Amino acid sequence: MLDKIKEKINNNAPLDKKDILKLIALLTTEKKQEIYNLADNLRAKIMGDEVFIRAIIEFSNFCRKNCDYCGIRGKNKNVKRYRMTEEEIIDNCLKVEKNGFTTVVLQSGEDMYFNKEKMGYIISEIKAKTKLAITVSAGERDIETYKFWYDCGMDRYLLRFETSNKKIFQKIHPDDDFDFRIQCIKNLKSIGVQTGSGFMIGLPEASFEDIADDILLCRELALDMIGVGPFIPHPDTPLGVNILKYDFDFYSGIIAILRLVNPYSHIPATTAFDALQKNGRDLLLQRGANIFMPNATPQKYRKFYLLYPDKPCVDEGADDCSRCVIYRITRLGRKIGKGPGHSVLNKKNDA
Ligand code: 5AD
Ligand code: SF4
Ligand code: FES
Repeated sequence: MLDKIKEKINNNAPLDKKDILKLIALLTTEKKQEIYNLADNLRAKIMGDEVFIRAIIEFSNFCRKNCDYCGIRGKNKNVKRYRMTEEEIIDNCLKVEKNGFTTVVLQSGEDMYFNKEKMGYIISEIKAKTKLAITVSAGERDIETYKFWYDCGMDRYLLRFETSNKKIFQKIHPDDDFDFRIQCIKNLKSIGVQTGSGFMIGLPEASFEDIADDILLCRELALDMIGVGPFIPHPDTPLGVNILKYDFDFYSGIIAILRLVNPYSHIPATTAFDALQKNGRDLLLQRGANIFMPNATPQKYRKFYLLYPDKPCVDEGADDCSRCVIYRITRLGRKIGKGPGHSVLNKKNDA
């Protein structure tokens, strides 16, 4: 069975749901190493050995929403809220560029203080003062806002769909509608923004079939980047009583399968993997991932941006993480990506 799947991969034939379910089942057997190797080889063949770096600034932890899994949900009274000033955000972007990186990710809760105009101003200023590619991750907004930010110079946007199972989505998102979430992702793509989305692995009630559908939805949406991580229960949330469903090898195996199904998408070794296992992100880079997102948030704010417990790098500062990430990537025998590392999905269409 794995031989047939290998043949499909070698022939650039798309894997179907049955193949994906088979691969998921194999993750709990000795065969898992073969799946990691397949993903690592495919990553090397299509994306090369460069690891692109996206430095992330968590600029506000205010959020108007109450996703059942998230540590900074609006109703969590145990969170000290902070909002960086516009100057602070821009200054920290200058630092990111000084540290040699080419992309900044501006992430926040759904904080409507940063409205269309304010965010637009910040994006324009960063574009005027740096050569950085700019990714924004600030939740659901209307298409006019996304379009305005794109016109101000925003290159990319991240908005996860979290789960492809509509029933589960509705249950854990009291403020959201699944169809609208998918519409937002499609709106971003239609504007021309390089679009990243993804899901959490191991949400309560999600089955292997749901995981297969999650992976297939990523392909269907033709995502430029796919951010996926384990669901880690946060004690101050309605889902805090749950426990981790799987082990590191399983979670990382899903990333490997994600690579096999989406050869041309950028796949980050997401931060949550370091919460599961020390240096977990490094292993991810050897199981299909090709992007690393070091934290560039000023140290004093980090402990207030805890979406899940045991988040790494909370005691470090931006300079620590930027040094560390270079060490970690070169130690693996990989190169730091040169240039902005834009989407390569179009390469697929040329092929
Ligand atoms: N565990 C893992 N990931 C989480 N996120 C939010 N809360 C958690 C959690 N408890 C993820 C969501 C969101 C991203 C910014 O962080 O997928 O889209
Ligand atoms: Fe807010 Fe995002 Fe957390 Fe939901 S996942 S509560 S939108 S920060
Ligand atoms: Fe932050 Fe290593 S990436 S300390």
